Amino acid sequence: MFLNVNEIRKDFPILQREVFGKPLVYLDNAATTQKPVRVIKKIEEVYSTINSNIHRGVHHLSQLATTAHEEARKTVQEYIHAPNSREIIFTRGTTESINLLASSFCRSQCRSGGEIILTAMEHHANIVPWQMQQSQTGIKIRVVPITEKGEIRLEDIEELISSETRLISLTHVSNVLGTINPIKEIIRLAHNYDIPVLIDAAQSVQHLEIDVQDLDCDFLVFSSHKMYGPTGIGVLYGKENLLEKLPPYQGGGEMIAHVSFQKTTFNELPFKFEAGTPDYVGTVALAEAIRYINELGLSDIHHYEKELLRYATTELMKIDGMRIIGQSEKKSPVISFLVKNIHPYDMGMLLDRMGIALRTGHHCAQPLMESLGIEGTLRASFAFYNTKEEIDVLIEGIKKAAKMLE
Ligand code: ALA
Repeated sequence: MFLNVNEIRKDFPILQREVFGKPLVYLDNAATTQKPVRVIKKIEEVYSTINSNIHRGVHHLSQLATTAHEEARKTVQEYIHAPNSREIIFTRGTTESINLLASSFCRSQCRSGGEIILTAMEHHANIVPWQMQQSQTGIKIRVVPITEKGEIRLEDIEELISSETRLISLTHVSNVLGTINPIKEIIRLAHNYDIPVLIDAAQSVQHLEIDVQDLDCDFLVFSSHKMYGPTGIGVLYGKENLLEKLPPYQGGGEMIAHVSFQKTTFNELPFKFEAGTPDYVGTVALAEAIRYINELGLSDIHHYEKELLRYATTELMKIDGMRIIGQSEKKSPVISFLVKNIHPYDMGMLLDRMGIALRTGHHCAQPLMESLGIEGTLRASFAFYNTKEEIDVLIEGIKKAAKMLE
């Protein structure tokens, strides 16, 4: 079955709007995706019908809200094929998930130092939390370089592995280059040396089927807002035996078993890592977004988006002075580019006036930009509701803007 994109677009109210008098062409999906009406309605429904704090009240509403929240956890568990829902920890997003893990992991597993291996294509969210642990624990960060095509090589990772390596943390898909990293092979390699692996799936979980058991990854993180769900919700998946060994991240209500001024004992998984009132409205709406994705089918989504990527790449390459940053054969629908020596910001501004939303700048990946010898790029990133007609509008827009800016 193929996607009926014209029908799908009707599910997204924002896609019907205009920007500066022009139909919106939204191509900034790697930054955040738009929300289908059923996700928006779910938020309203929870507040209108079952709103009540969870895990606390004996009263009816609290029980309904608790059940809805815990069912959402199961929906996430099934989506990434995790063995059990205790391994699904709700956070505020990918960034908080990595901060949680960096803090808990380094405090418990890197007391006497050690090394964390990252790659040159990481988002700041997978760099800075580890750097912040350097001063606390004395860990060192080792960085896997990227090739000219924008890929990482297994042999470069293996070269950095030593008896000091405590964890490898890398992105599944680069938010700048679009490269889909061979994470299954990397995880297998790391496990040969008994090294756990954290996968940043923020840019993959909305495009590709993720099976944490098949991948055998130790930790995996992602955000709801990049997968058609609400903002402010994210997930940390971790293997139960590893999560059990980690100390809590934040203290407060919900994460405790018993508190006295002499000693506090902590709750079991996943609550040990979920201090305070969780965003139970957000989790229920995220589950709705996952049901929406499942109904469309990730395999059809993948095929359609792959065709958008192919078409956009071919058409962009026809533009005089076009330089696409990230030439891997295995790419997600993300295209970073530069046109001649035009500053990305200038072109982005002109395209915006034409109703075309792209992202410009370093995309929270300054070390990557540095290794590429550039300051930033323009970036078009696609979702299943984008069309070839929108790509045509982008191409004409770039040509027009280039003429004005040259
Ligand atoms: N990480 C998001 C992006 O790449 C914000 O745009």
